[in-house]
Amino acid sequence: MSGAPQAGGAAGARSRDAYARARQVLPGGTTRVTVERDPVPRYVSHGAGAWLHDLDGRRYLDLNNNYTALIHGHAFAPVTEALQRQLRDGTAFANPTEHEIALAELLCGRVPGLDRLRFCNSGTEAVLFAVKAARAFTGRPAIAKVEGAYHGAYDWVEVSQASEPGTWGPAEAPSAVPYYRGMPEAVLGDVVTLRFNDAEGAARLIGAHADRLAAVVLDPMPSRAGLVAPEPDFLAAVEAAARRHGILLISDEVLNLRQGHGGAAARYGLQADLFALAKIIGGGLPIGAVGGRAEVMRVFDSSSGRPALPQGGTFAANPLSMVAGRAAMQALDQAALQRLEGLGDDLRRRLAAASMARQAPFTITGAASLFRIHPKRRPPREHRDAHCSPAEMAVLAELSRFCAGHGILLPRGTSGCLSTPMGPAEVDLVVQVFERFLEERADCYMELP
Ligand SMILES: Cc1ncc(COP(=O)(O)O)c(C=O)c1O
Repeated sequence: MSGAPQAGGAAGARSRDAYARARQVLPGGTTRVTVERDPVPRYVSHGAGAWLHDLDGRRYLDLNNNYTALIHGHAFAPVTEALQRQLRDGTAFANPTEHEIALAELLCGRVPGLDRLRFCNSGTEAVLFAVKAARAFTGRPAIAKVEGAYHGAYDWVEVSQASEPGTWGPAEAPSAVPYYRGMPEAVLGDVVTLRFNDAEGAARLIGAHADRLAAVVLDPMPSRAGLVAPEPDFLAAVEAAARRHGILLISDEVLNLRQGHGGAAARYGLQADLFALAKIIGGGLPIGAVGGRAEVMRVFDSSSGRPALPQGGTFAANPLSMVAGRAAMQALDQAALQRLEGLGDDLRRRLAAASMARQAPFTITGAASLFRIHPKRRPPREHRDAHCSPAEMAVLAELSRFCAGHGILLPRGTSGCLSTPMGPAEVDLVVQVFERFLEERADCYMELP
C-alpha cells in the first residue's frame, strides 16, 4: 500500500498512537536522540529499496538510510538471502566462524593500510577501541579531534562535538567543550580541539600538546561539522605533525567509507595508522570494526597471553552481521560506487543551480553519495561557518517538513545520502521538491542574510 504523504509533513494517526504508547515506556518516547520527530516520529511498517512505508500507509523516498548505513537501501535481496541462510545455522557463538574471516579479508583487501582488524558492534565501539589502541601503543592518554565532529558516544570524542558560538572559544585555541552535564574534568583535560581545515592551527596545537597525545581522531569529511571537503594542506599538516611526534592518526570512516572503494582516507590521500569502520560494512545489521597497521593492531593480539589492550564483546563478529556485511560489500563494487557518485554529482549540482537561479541563500556540500544543504550563501569550510543560528535552523526544519509533505525523508540537519536502488528518477524528484520549496516558501528563507 502506498498512500500520498500528508501535506504539511506531519505524522499520521497510527504513528501518533504508537508514540503515545512509546512515551509510557521510553524517555521522550524514543530510544535514540537522533530519531526525527515533528513533533511525532513516523513509525515505519517496512522498507523496500529506496522507499520507506509508515504505519499510516504512506511512502517516502528515504534520504536518511539509517544515517547512511544502508547503502543498498532497504531489504536488499543479497543481504536478506544471506541472513535467511545464516538464521538456520545459529545467530551467535562464543566460538569464531569462517564468516568473520571472509569479511575481514574483504575489508583488508579493499582499504589501503588496513592490515588487520577486529570486529565490534557499532561505530561508537570502533572509535573507542581505536582510541584505546592508540593509547596502548603510545603509552599516552590524550587525543586531538575536530570541533563539531561526531564520532559516537565515547566520552573523549564527544568533547567539542556541540561547540557553539558562546562556548567554542578563540579561533586560535578552541575550547574543550563538555557534551553533557557532569562530563569529568579529566576527560576535558585530555582532549585538544582543532578546527577543520585550519592547517596552521592544527600543526601548532598538535605540536604544543605532543608529549601527551596518543592520537588525532579525524573524519576526512565530518558530516556534523559541515560535510565539507578537506583541504589538502590541512590533511598534510595534521599527518606531518602526527608523524613528527609519534602520534597515531585515526581515520574515522564509520560514515565516510562509502566515499570510495578504498574508503575516505584513500580518496583524500591521508595515511592513517588506525581506522574505525561501521555502518555500511554490516549490510544493515549492527557492526563496527577497528583496524589498521599490523604493528599497531598487535596491541589486541591475545594469542600468547594477556594483550596490551584486551577487547571483547558478546556479539562481536556475530555471524549475522558478518554475512550481511559481506553480501552488501560484495555488491558495492567499483561500478556501483561510480554510478552512485554520478548521481550524487548530479544532485549536488542541480540543487546548487536551483538555489542560485532564485538567488536563494543555500549552498550544497558533500561528495560521492552524500550531500548537505546549508542555509548559507557561502559554502562553509569548517564547523564555525556551518553552525546554524536559530533562524537558519528554523529554515532547515521547514525544508525538511516540506520534503516530508512531498514524500521525501530529508534529515532535519539536511544532510542526506543516496542508495544504490536510486536512479535518475529519484534525483529528479529531490530536485523538483527542492525547487518547489524555493518557489513556494520564499517567505521562510528570504529574511536570511
Ligand atoms: C563519523 C562517525 N563516527 C562514529 C559514529 C558512531 O557510530 P554508531 O552509531 O554505529 O555507534 C557515527 C554515527 O553516525 C559517525 O557518523
